[in-house]
Amino acid sequence: MAKHEELLVPVFSTLEPVYGSGFQLEEAQLRFEKIKSKFLQIFGFQPDVYARSPGRVNLIGEHIDYEGYSVLPMAIRQDTIVAIHKRDAGESPKLIRIANLNEKYTMCTYPTDPNQEIDLKNHKWGHYFICGYKGYYEFAKSKGIDVGEPIGLDVLVDGTVPTGSGLSSSSAFVCSSTIAIMATFDVNFLKKEIAQLTCDCEHHIGTQSGGMDQAISIMAKSGFAELIDFNPIHATDVQLPAGGSFVIAHSLAESQKAVTAATNYNNRVVECRLAAIVLGIKLGMKPLEAISKVKTLSDVEGLCVSFAGTHGSSDAVLAVKEFLNEEPYTAEDIEKITEEKLPSVLGNDPTSLDVLRAAKNFKLYQRASHVYSEAKRVHAFKDTVSSSLSDEDMLKKLGDLMNESHHSCSVLYECSCPELEDLVKICRDNGALGARLTGAGWGGCVVALVKENIVSQFIHNLKELFYQSRIEKGIINKNDLGLYLFASKPSSGAAIFKF
Ligand code: GLA
Repeated sequence: MAKHEELLVPVFSTLEPVYGSGFQLEEAQLRFEKIKSKFLQIFGFQPDVYARSPGRVNLIGEHIDYEGYSVLPMAIRQDTIVAIHKRDAGESPKLIRIANLNEKYTMCTYPTDPNQEIDLKNHKWGHYFICGYKGYYEFAKSKGIDVGEPIGLDVLVDGTVPTGSGLSSSSAFVCSSTIAIMATFDVNFLKKEIAQLTCDCEHHIGTQSGGMDQAISIMAKSGFAELIDFNPIHATDVQLPAGGSFVIAHSLAESQKAVTAATNYNNRVVECRLAAIVLGIKLGMKPLEAISKVKTLSDVEGLCVSFAGTHGSSDAVLAVKEFLNEEPYTAEDIEKITEEKLPSVLGNDPTSLDVLRAAKNFKLYQRASHVYSEAKRVHAFKDTVSSSLSDEDMLKKLGDLMNESHHSCSVLYECSCPELEDLVKICRDNGALGARLTGAGWGGCVVALVKENIVSQFIHNLKELFYQSRIEKGIINKNDLGLYLFASKPSSGAAIFKF
């Protein structure tokens, strides 16, 4: 059988292959009907084609994809659907018009120029579509496809992945946009190509994110979590043990990855890069060589492991302990080692310069320790799942790994927040075998591993202990609780619908 990444995005003429049967199918049918009639009402046409891409929950492997390490997410049922109609060449308006079924998001209009800059100072929801639009053109050109003159597009979006939740609503939107654009232009690319191009084009939004979210959204398979490797992108099915269920619970603190990039997400990417360069130099590379060659901690892992080998170990963290200071570094401290100013070390990349402007100091020891240890936990998780342990012991071990991951995210990577800490504790106190923040953090969701037979009691307890007071304060509406707290099975990946 062909590997996932070597396949094309599937094209379906019915909803069943993605939405199954019964209630979920009926719900999907209604949703597609609504999209179609709203499309007609707004634009006066029917969509040519629809694309959908799911959100995801990351089970383990946080903040390590951009360092080149494997991660282990699964797709969730919630997704983004993009309906699209391309205008004929010469037909006006020669614009991209992006509407949303949810009227909270007012229509965004953009020119059709694929080289347009995205206005990062003025964040608009439609920007994510434009990321996909730019990405499509960049990639098609690189493949030598004749893209012709840009033409007007009418677009209607409907997303059910809660935003700011760490469940990757942004990548679901970028991926479904890119695939809808491809489909309306009658081209299809390999999943691995789309996973890479959507990862690259989401950088236009200003975050230096890794490729996990796009890869799982594109390559997910119903019933399986996936071990995702990078460079090159590859997905391996991971069958989760029977008797366990993953419950997702929103901390109700919104995690706005793009808006807080300079102090949070991109800051960590920069800290990892600096940690890697400093380690490279301490382990024998010339500063200039390290600056030009070392981009990620995985680039210097070999050197770290060789060092550990001289001490009878194979753990890269040993080199971190030996060569990096636990005390935060100032920019000047690092420049003494790199013998070059930090803006130039970072290639004067504008989003990295924003990080330098915002940062007081850099915690290289803590960030590198997290990355190397978290990368190991991902493999331990995968090995546990394929071991001969009893289901009971397996679940316990997976839960322990999730708890260790959370501790590392919270203490070493500092990407948690009080609401997430509170919720993780409530999950553990109420029978979760493991609970951790999922996604970028600084808000968003917790994922908890819970024995299947206590799931309803667990959800009930969380409702009482975490959500009830927030419902009373009017932070969320009682009827919306199902959006913030639910059990999830691994769902299927991106698809195109032509009816
Ligand atoms: C976000 C990014 C991913 C990944 C996670 C943290 O979701 O988009 O690439 O880095 O954060 O694991």
